[in-house]
Amino acid sequence: MKKLLIRSALVGGKKRDVLIDGDRIEKIAADIDAGDCKVIDADGLTALPAFVDMHVHLREPGYEYKEDIESGSRAAVAGGFSAVCCMPNTNPVTDNKYIVRYIKDRAKEVDLAKVYPIAAVSVGQKGETITEMGKLKEAGAVAFSDDGRPVESAQLMRIALEYAGGFNMPVISHCEDLSLVNDGVMNEGFTATLAGYKGITRASEEVMVARDIVLAETLGARVHIAHISTKGSAQLIREAKARGVKVTCETCPHYFAATDALLEGGDANAKVNPPLREESDRLAMIEAIKDGTVDAIVTDHAPHAKHEKEGGLIGAANGISGIETSFALSYTTLVRSGAITLEKLSELMTANPAGIVGIECGALKEGALADITLVDLDAKYTIDKNKFFSKGKNTPFHGKEVYGKVRYTLVDGKIKYKEV
Ligand code: DOR
Ligand code: ZN
Repeated sequence: MKKLLIRSALVGGKKRDVLIDGDRIEKIAADIDAGDCKVIDADGLTALPAFVDMHVHLREPGYEYKEDIESGSRAAVAGGFSAVCCMPNTNPVTDNKYIVRYIKDRAKEVDLAKVYPIAAVSVGQKGETITEMGKLKEAGAVAFSDDGRPVESAQLMRIALEYAGGFNMPVISHCEDLSLVNDGVMNEGFTATLAGYKGITRASEEVMVARDIVLAETLGARVHIAHISTKGSAQLIREAKARGVKVTCETCPHYFAATDALLEGGDANAKVNPPLREESDRLAMIEAIKDGTVDAIVTDHAPHAKHEKEGGLIGAANGISGIETSFALSYTTLVRSGAITLEKLSELMTANPAGIVGIECGALKEGALADITLVDLDAKYTIDKNKFFSKGKNTPFHGKEVYGKVRYTLVDGKIKYKEV
């Protein structure tokens, strides 16, 4: 097979050529002889290790009308991702080795992004019986989570942390005390009061974050907290980390790029769980990203069909289709504003999440896996949901102006996305 040469990309701020042989980077240098290589002209583009999203919903099996492995993988590579970890709230639930294998096989057939299944903590995500974690790991699961729902029983969570820990696998906790949610539909605050909706207290998230920290600390086990959205959650995790608790966490672009003000007019595309919070929380997310409290930026890509977002806020499904807007929202909100460097954003979107779930990711060095994304950082554009590859057009960011366009995504040294 011919080698591939990325010509004149910015690598760590310097113009470089990147020579790829098979699935690895052979050489990075100025002016590499192209020989009979296939050449990508990357003049004006910045090369980054392709992104890893450790929290997406691909919906297959069972909810293919929302998304399937093919459409979700296509959306992933268009978003600059070479690898995604998909949550088990499928139908049937990904709680057995056959479904884990099915997801992996189907992703291989599709041959776009690498797909790593996350298996359920409890059978049927019912919160009653622990899954067969050893068999699930053997089949290819990379983590355990009942995401979409909390593990309500502290005793079950205790067993899960211990058991998963024995297999050196992370448990990803969706932190939500359902009794405190109390039929709320959006964040409890000014906007909810003004619009007349029942609110969801921040405590519904924070009580569970605190519980999981206590369990991890008591057991000496590790826990990963999913999609944090509040200042209080960040503070609990910051303090726990300082004590040496093995806790990691993630947040999503919508929690640092938006607030519940988006729900003023009742836009159900801004309905997500946990809910968008207020400006003080948004700023606290940015602080937590800056000081290392947040380990990873994930999308919680949650595609839904049009009809599931219609008919008013109360009945609408929770979730944002986010994998095609993640880099631009993050880059615009965090890097262009000067809050963090591009290098730090790259860590949050690639090496850190890959480390948490224990998968190999791209890196821009010789010998590394050639999972590479080429972005045009100066390209300013308007987010258009109609251009999404995802079946889910449910974004509250339609019409928003952002910077940072993904032009190419390479997976294992092969071009899997090229902007047309
Ligand atoms: O907004 C959300 N959507 N939050 C979740 O935890 C689940 C997800 C989904 O599956 O739609
Ligand atoms: Zn989720």
